[in-house]
Amino acid sequence: MSQGVTMPNAFCRLLDIAIPIAQAGMGGATSPELVAAVSNAGGLGLIGLSVSYFDDLELARQEVRRTRALTPRPFGANIILEWEPSGRLDICLDEGVRLISFSFGDPAPYVTRIHDAGALVSIMVGTPAEAKSAVDAGVDLIIAQGWEAGGHPAGQIATMALVPAVVDAVGGQVPVLAAGGIADGRGLAAAIALGASGAYIGTRFLASREAAIHPEYQQRILTAGVADTVYTKVFNGGWDAAQRVLRNSTYARWDAAGQPPDGLRPDEGEIVATSFRRGDIARYQCVVAGPECEGDIEALPLWAGQGVGLAKELMTAGEIVDEIWKEAKDAQRRLSAAIDGSNSSSPIDPERN
Ligand SMILES: Cc1cc2nc3c(=O)[nH]c(=O)nc-3n(C[C@H](O)[C@H](O)[C@H](O)COP(=O)(O)O)c2cc1C
Repeated sequence: MSQGVTMPNAFCRLLDIAIPIAQAGMGGATSPELVAAVSNAGGLGLIGLSVSYFDDLELARQEVRRTRALTPRPFGANIILEWEPSGRLDICLDEGVRLISFSFGDPAPYVTRIHDAGALVSIMVGTPAEAKSAVDAGVDLIIAQGWEAGGHPAGQIATMALVPAVVDAVGGQVPVLAAGGIADGRGLAAAIALGASGAYIGTRFLASREAAIHPEYQQRILTAGVADTVYTKVFNGGWDAAQRVLRNSTYARWDAAGQPPDGLRPDEGEIVATSFRRGDIARYQCVVAGPECEGDIEALPLWAGQGVGLAKELMTAGEIVDEIWKEAKDAQRRLSAAIDGSNSSSPIDPERN
């Protein structure tokens, strides 16, 4: 860490970063520019490596190297354990990725390998029991993800109830990040008040200039409100998991038809878009609308968390990190004033988190 920069809590100390904001690994929506911008701003960027075009491991390696070329700071990579992770994991460990951020599976078989390579490992959980067994298996960081989250929520417990329960289950052995519905500094301060060391934020970074998403998807992120997402299995998720997406024409068509099961959904198999990376994209297919997609972008699964209503302005990722951190400090002052009438001007400093 650069000299003179204080690290406010256990997450920052673990990762050697200044600001307790992680940009969530979002398969298909991150870019080396996004990840590096967040890390260069003092947070932690993460590459979303679990997208099918990185089955070509040479492309995955290039993504990691391009990110490394843009930042000297630590960054991480998300790998979904629903699929065999070894190829991607080896690349991350070879290339010096600091944090391997797993989700949707058991991290235990990989912990020793990651530690032996000098890296850290986290797991995203949706219940306190999952957090406890991951800590027992030796993970370094827990991400407690509430069902407000965009993409595939890990469970159905809301962030507000989940985070303190996970913090209690972990018992201070490793830091906890809060995820799901956190999109500004008020949310970050609330996460810290709940006992987390910081926030793991996805949707808000979709509204950054560096996000790898189609401009029409991004425009919908910027204009949607907090009530505009649905939690649904209507899109084929790759595994049997519900997703949180913006309510769109595909969802509305299926809903109007009485929410029929797979095989009976309206216009199944209709090609709604194409992409040089994905080929033809059928209605209900689980594909992030990347910048290269052409066709009916609105009909694709537009993943977004409930915090989407707080993402109103297109900014650079660095500006987003700065703004969230400044707002968190403002929220801390309001908390101090509201709770004990004091007028604290010290930065958020939860030594015990
Ligand atoms: C577009 C998008 C893609 C995502 N892709 C992944 C993924 O590949 N792996 C994963 O573990 N989580 C994924 N997520 C979930 C995020 O990692 C994170 O938990 C979530 O975005 C946090 O909630 P928020 O969106 O309300 O900030 C994705 C989320 C979004 C919005």
